[in-house]
Amino acid sequence: MKVLFACSEATPFIKTGGLADVCGSLPIALSKLGVDVRLVLPGYPSIIEQFPEAVETSKLDLLGVDDPVSILKVIYHQGPITLYIVNSPQMFDRQGNPYIDESGNDWPDNALRFGLFSRVVTCLALGFGTPDWRADIVHCHDWQTGLVPALLSLQTDSPPSLFTIHNLAYQGNFPKSEFAALELPEQLWTPDGIEFYDKISFMKAGLVFANKINTVSNNYCAEICTAEYGFGFEGLLRKRVNDLSGIVNGVDYDTWNPATDKLISKPYSETNFSINKPENKRFLQQLVGLPEDPGLPVIGMVGRLVIQKGIDLLIESLPELMTQNLQLIILGVGEKRFHESLLEAKKIYHNKLAVLFEYSEKHAHAIQAGSDMFIMPSRFEPCGLSQIYSLRYGTIPIVRKTGGLADTVFNTTEKRLNDKTATGFVFKQPTPESLIKTVNRALAAYKQPSLWKKLMHTTMTQIFSWETSAKKYRQLYSAIIENK
Ligand code: ADP
Ligand code: GLC
Repeated sequence: MKVLFACSEATPFIKTGGLADVCGSLPIALSKLGVDVRLVLPGYPSIIEQFPEAVETSKLDLLGVDDPVSILKVIYHQGPITLYIVNSPQMFDRQGNPYIDESGNDWPDNALRFGLFSRVVTCLALGFGTPDWRADIVHCHDWQTGLVPALLSLQTDSPPSLFTIHNLAYQGNFPKSEFAALELPEQLWTPDGIEFYDKISFMKAGLVFANKINTVSNNYCAEICTAEYGFGFEGLLRKRVNDLSGIVNGVDYDTWNPATDKLISKPYSETNFSINKPENKRFLQQLVGLPEDPGLPVIGMVGRLVIQKGIDLLIESLPELMTQNLQLIILGVGEKRFHESLLEAKKIYHNKLAVLFEYSEKHAHAIQAGSDMFIMPSRFEPCGLSQIYSLRYGTIPIVRKTGGLADTVFNTTEKRLNDKTATGFVFKQPTPESLIKTVNRALAAYKQPSLWKKLMHTTMTQIFSWETSAKKYRQLYSAIIENK
């Protein structure tokens, strides 16, 4: 089975969030199952620099760019997997991140950038530039690749496509003028096509034209068919409900495993966490400049500081939470208003609160290993990976019952503790009151060492392997190819 796997980020090449974790690991897991996966990524500077050995396989003259786009090809060692790099310096050779400039503003030409990327993916899918290889299926991820299914639908004899929704909130909607700039055929500009409230929507293009759609957890799959979580697409998704499914993300346990993690202070596993995890806590407290107190519960948070992640709920809860004996460590980058409120809070609670506004793998791992609890009060969460990492690190998650958080973390009750199915602390209402009540429940449990150890042991032995999820993707690919 030949799969062209198109995405805008993938570890270890380029990462802004969980999308990269998935698009880095899933191809490897598929390849281990014997699937011939070829990954295609935009040629950001970091990728071009990582692969000086990449060879040019073809050049494409495409709309919207002055120079031909060259397709670079390289085999990377894990897998091994073929990577195609879409090298267009005009579109991708810039500082900043894939979507925003150094001041945090969207690149003004994002429609053209990812329009071009989608055109190249479509060409590759049709065999241009890869005469010896023709995809059986194209797997697209999020709005950046949404135009691919639409462009494929305009061709005869094109391979079918699967569109995976990682986050429906980011839709790639642009003014109508971009539709003209992209020189797309008029037939696509209809309410049944890619027009969305008089804008062009890349997400909608994927949702309408892909042969099948999936998202990254079962619960989010059901949620997005409702007005509360559908972000305007609930009607369309309900119409396509027979083509829609959920496959929960897996975890790359080569990267996220406290027994082998090179970024943490002292390795530990489910057999020796009582002895070795405390050193990670001491290291973390020192790293972030909080008092080195082994007895105080430490709550960690790593994530984008945006409304989705419920950072506003956590900020509103601070006055109450900070009356407790605890330490809170937050690592994230996001909206300026949240940075400002956290800086203000830090001035008041400097002995209990640490905030780090940076993107740092080292700190993310240190927080997972050194904290006792990990908080994720998301307002919505398609899957969420950080809480699954924290399970593995015996860092008990405190989460809101939404999306993938509800599928991966199970609330601690007496019955669940006895059944060994309790893996965290879960609350329903997106309110500071609910959050505070649940943190207090976790703190009370923390004071009972034998209960806490039992909980840690259960969480550390939960496995969310990519192998299981990759098999489901393989099955889905087969069904799509057969039904074409
Ligand atoms: P999302 O994709 O919505 O941001 P996920 O939980 O799926 O949320 O994935 C987030 C990923 O990004 C995790 O691997 C997490 O460790 C990482 N991450 C988020 N913010 C930071 C940060 N400031 N520094 C390092 N890693 C981060
Ligand atoms: C998105 C979602 C997150 C999910 C990730 C990977 O960024 O916000 O919940 O885990 O994609 O699928």
